[in-house]
Amino acid sequence: MTANAAEDPFAHLHDEDYAAPYSRRRVGVDDMVFMAGRETIPLDGDWLFVTDLFDEGLRQRWFADEPVPISQWTRPRDYDLDETATVPVPSCWTMLRPEWTHFEGAGWYTRSFAFEPSNGRERLVLRIGSANYEARVFLNGAFLASHRGGSTPFSVDLTANLRPGENRLQVQVDNRRRSDRVPMHHFDWHNDGGLYREVDLVPLPGVFIRDCGIGLVPDGTFSRIAVDITLSEPVDGIARVDIPGLGVRTRCPVTAGRGAIVIEAQPLLWSPGAPNLYRATVEFGDDVVVDTVGFREIRRSGRDILLNGEPLWLRGVCVHEDDAVLGRSSSDEDVRRRFRHARELGCNVLRLAHYPHHERVARIADEEGLMLWEEVPVYWAIDFANPDTFADAENQLLEMIRRDRNRASVILWGVGNENADTDARYAFMSGLAAAARRADPTRLVAAACLINREAFRIEDRLAQHLDVIGLNEYFGWYEPDLAGLERLIANSDPDRPVVISEVGADALSGHRGGERELFTEDCQAAIFRDQIAVIRSVPWIRGFFPWLLYDFRSPRRQTRFQRGWNRKGLIAEDKATKKLAFAVVANFYRELG
Ligand code: GCU
Repeated sequence: MTANAAEDPFAHLHDEDYAAPYSRRRVGVDDMVFMAGRETIPLDGDWLFVTDLFDEGLRQRWFADEPVPISQWTRPRDYDLDETATVPVPSCWTMLRPEWTHFEGAGWYTRSFAFEPSNGRERLVLRIGSANYEARVFLNGAFLASHRGGSTPFSVDLTANLRPGENRLQVQVDNRRRSDRVPMHHFDWHNDGGLYREVDLVPLPGVFIRDCGIGLVPDGTFSRIAVDITLSEPVDGIARVDIPGLGVRTRCPVTAGRGAIVIEAQPLLWSPGAPNLYRATVEFGDDVVVDTVGFREIRRSGRDILLNGEPLWLRGVCVHEDDAVLGRSSSDEDVRRRFRHARELGCNVLRLAHYPHHERVARIADEEGLMLWEEVPVYWAIDFANPDTFADAENQLLEMIRRDRNRASVILWGVGNENADTDARYAFMSGLAAAARRADPTRLVAAACLINREAFRIEDRLAQHLDVIGLNEYFGWYEPDLAGLERLIANSDPDRPVVISEVGADALSGHRGGERELFTEDCQAAIFRDQIAVIRSVPWIRGFFPWLLYDFRSPRRQTRFQRGWNRKGLIAEDKATKKLAFAVVANFYRELG
């Protein structure tokens, strides 16, 4: 029941079902707009903002009131959206004021814009790079749509609710941790909130390209390029596909809004050592998109990972999207520094923990020749038995895949991390693995699995659904006796590649001492030295991902050495000061050649 303020101004005080009307009309992967090469109207900059701890905005329907001076108010209000703070978008509200550092609730963003439809651009879509965790969009006093998932882009069509002149746009963002969310209550990073990636208006023609895939057919010939096109409407027609660098100018028939062709070509393949990229233009009617793509093939053969047919050893490192100033927002400079440090370490791949990072990361990785493991935050305990939670996780996975499917740098989709083995978890995560393969049969699927503790061997029934088994192991740290790692390896005989998807130890930068003195750089370095000596000769270990590149914020970490930071970085929170362990890993990767 939703309170009707007109009859009873106090009804909202007793209506605990107030959010139901605003959790419908959910947008997801099928509402996304293909963005490559599009002109947009950025809405970045100052927005009006107010926190809303008790959800008064939905209870009292703040969005329904036109902004009028107090002198014209006919009854008192508890909010004053047009006389409030402003915040920069994109940003995390957790980074803007001390009193918002750990704020978990709703934040209301308000701004206006003018838009005049022009011929060929009669539709207007709002595209939000991501909002953590749930977002609700209101335009000119009307609720339009909601979105769940804190790290993937989504689009809301504003066209039907536009009015001439000024339009009033409001976005409510709710970053509460809840038992039905993905991740759930408990995770080892800072719970940032807000519109923390770019927000754009996207003018579009009546029929536009909603999705477009361009990539090598993974058949070992490296000479067949598959192009698929999905339109916003189920219409017929002919699309144009041009890849000038390959002398390709061809046509793709479209029927009921869908088209697909395979083009014979001899592209220079993409690889970390030769990140060859080609410009591809796809046109249909009044719509044109332009993407920059690399052509490469990644697949598994037995215990090998093959890039363009050649065995690959993944010299990796894990990284969070975290910054002492930006929080979970990032900048080109932040990403390029991350990649510079990864290359100094000798990496050819990064694991983007534990949620989809900014879309600029994969685009820059394409250019710079680094491979990526991207994953969804199916992390630790999740309400695996809840079908609505599965729908949320699956949608986040599909939005990540849809967003980055043309990025050559992305080689692995990760479907989860360290999830206790139950029947519900098995159904949930094997369902995600199947969804990933349906959406994108050209990449590998992985997860950070647990081990069979009784038999003390690498064994997880989920592994049969994966191409790569991730093993998070902290022998030397959480399990001090390194002999456990040797025993685990001796007991295991996996039939597919295993990568050490996490390994490490906390160390406060500058804190020195004995090799067994916890939280010293010397202890962290000794653990990596001893770990590497054990894993380097294991034939079925095909990769190593130190946890992690930089110290990062985590409220769970409160010793005198941590003070709200997880100190397992090979580099300190300043993203400059290298710890002793950095050289230990760099030497290992250099020796691998
Ligand atoms: C886990 C988890 C990480 C966490 C790390 C740690 O393996 O996957 O997210 O930060 O261990 O304990 O530091």
